[in-house]
Amino acid sequence: MLRKIDSFEQYKTEYKTSVENPEKFWEEKAEQFEWHRKWANVVSCNFNEAETRWFENGKLNITENALDRHLTTQANKPAIIWEPNNPSDQHKTFTYKEVHSEVCKIANGLRNLGVKKGDRVCLYMPMVPELAFATLACARIGAIHSVVFAGFSAKALADRINDCSCKIILTADGAFRGSKTIELKKIVDTALNHCEVVERTVVLNRCGIPVQLKEGRDLWWEQIFDNQSAEFTAESMDSEDPLFILYTSGSTGKPKGVQHSSGGYMVYAEYSFRNVFQYEEDDIYWCTADIGWITGHSYIIYGPLLAGATTVMFEGVPTFPNAGRFWEICEKHKINLFYTAPTAIRALQAYSTDFVNRHNLSSLKVLGSVGEPINEEAWHWYHKNIGKEKCPIVDTWWQTETGGILISPLAGITPLKPGYASLPLPGIQPVIVDSLGNELTENEVEGNLCIKRPWPSMLRSTWGDHERCKSTYFKTYPGMYFTGDGCNRDINGYYRITGRVDDVINVSGHRFGTAEIENAINEHPDVIESAVIGFPHDIKGQGIYAFVITQPGETGSNDLFSKEIIEKVVEFIGPIAKPDKIQFVSGLPKTRSGKIMRRILRKLAKGNHHDLGDTSTLLDPNVIDSIKLGILIEA
Ligand code: WT7
Repeated sequence: MLRKIDSFEQYKTEYKTSVENPEKFWEEKAEQFEWHRKWANVVSCNFNEAETRWFENGKLNITENALDRHLTTQANKPAIIWEPNNPSDQHKTFTYKEVHSEVCKIANGLRNLGVKKGDRVCLYMPMVPELAFATLACARIGAIHSVVFAGFSAKALADRINDCSCKIILTADGAFRGSKTIELKKIVDTALNHCEVVERTVVLNRCGIPVQLKEGRDLWWEQIFDNQSAEFTAESMDSEDPLFILYTSGSTGKPKGVQHSSGGYMVYAEYSFRNVFQYEEDDIYWCTADIGWITGHSYIIYGPLLAGATTVMFEGVPTFPNAGRFWEICEKHKINLFYTAPTAIRALQAYSTDFVNRHNLSSLKVLGSVGEPINEEAWHWYHKNIGKEKCPIVDTWWQTETGGILISPLAGITPLKPGYASLPLPGIQPVIVDSLGNELTENEVEGNLCIKRPWPSMLRSTWGDHERCKSTYFKTYPGMYFTGDGCNRDINGYYRITGRVDDVINVSGHRFGTAEIENAINEHPDVIESAVIGFPHDIKGQGIYAFVITQPGETGSNDLFSKEIIEKVVEFIGPIAKPDKIQFVSGLPKTRSGKIMRRILRKLAKGNHHDLGDTSTLLDPNVIDSIKLGILIEA
């Protein structure tokens, strides 16, 4: 069991060392893993070129560290506990030995299908154990996994498959989510009409839905993986070889494939997991995220398994069959460390605390929050009703691009301040800059959040377009990684992340670019132009508000029209990006150069019709009055 930081004093010392001598600091952490060959150089970095390398020339396989390494000491310890959507179905437990076998079987099956190191494999699956096994199987072969959240539409899936040319896709007949069944294979079939690169699909039977298997392309999971050998010699990966791609939205263009490395990612995922949650041997840890997001990658699969922990995977949703499901699972599996999103807390907060109080939550030691700022009301509800005022809440700030948690309290060690992600982890140097790029070195300042030095799990590129990586993250403030978040620092140096300062909306912890949603809406033949913004939403954090200009003379029902617009968004992105409000307007506030003034739209959307700020640069000041008259449809 590796040592972890165990006092606030020690945190401060460790932080100081990590800043003064990062090479020595991270080398020590990396030495605790198994490498086929030791690195020649701890880190080299050129932020202007968006180039960072960690543990250069080191060779390893992350799955040997997550699985094989634990087999001598804890082969029979549960590695993954899987809780199904339907509470009356049996849960499943897989020991480290069993996960190892399952992973090797899939790795062998994939190799038989011709998958090799460097190939991209798309996973579009429900939250079943096979998803975790398959992810690790890719890593074992050295194939790059690209997990696509199973709530994305066929078009969104096709874009992601094509962008990184996946030659194989692993999927299932369907997914159970609460009372719904989603027919995944049908979605895949539609997507594949637009993906020439895909040679094979492998289909898991999860729901017993009849599916069409296309001759020569589609195969059943069981047929390919079940009779394989349970041993597979892990591929030796260079520390900088890509481990996975994960698509995420930015303020412009299509979602980008954030690319993560093997060695650096491994070291940081484990280090951050162990220290933030203060993981102790035999703790049962549950992160409620989906593996389709970065949280699932780093803190359901890699972080906990690298640390030798027991990680719980949940197939369902917080409110099925009722609003007590999370707490029922906490009681059932005696969860010690629980990690969820503010949106889930706010949704559950709306129900009676009877749903909480009928369960014994005494096993809980640490609560975590991730994905968006946690408002103080939700923080206190969580602290009081779930943690019974005994469990520290770790408000963990990070991003798909950062690979792991960068700013967060260490549970039980860092003094808490609700609403604040608090202090950086060792090795992380946050900087607040003003709009001109000046570093604000004092406390009690507000500005944009950047990170000054490289850290092991940072993104290495955006797939197929390194220039985009440079311009998105490293050009705005030269010499620094720009997060896209606004933040402030209080008198004690604590960070509070206030939300995105770019055209990214965070809906229930999911990221969408406004342009991405506008493009979908504009696909409707009767739409001339649209502008999408985020507005404060009680449960989702931000909701989606669309201002839409329609063809003149369009006389159909607005309700019907708004339904059709929503349908476009569902078709191009997925149900998770449905606009909450659509307002039909005759014009949009634009500058003389034609740029939409979203600042004004945000105020109008909040119902703030009087204090619109500086409107002197508006091309047509009358447009404001016409927008106010526009018909608003609430979904
Ligand atoms: C954006 C990243 C990190 C995994 C889940 C989301 C926001 C995330 C916090 C937090 C305030 C937060 C930021 C960030 N965010 N965690 N604790 N406090 N904001 O990953 O989809 O890449 O989104 O989520 O705005 O930039 P993501």
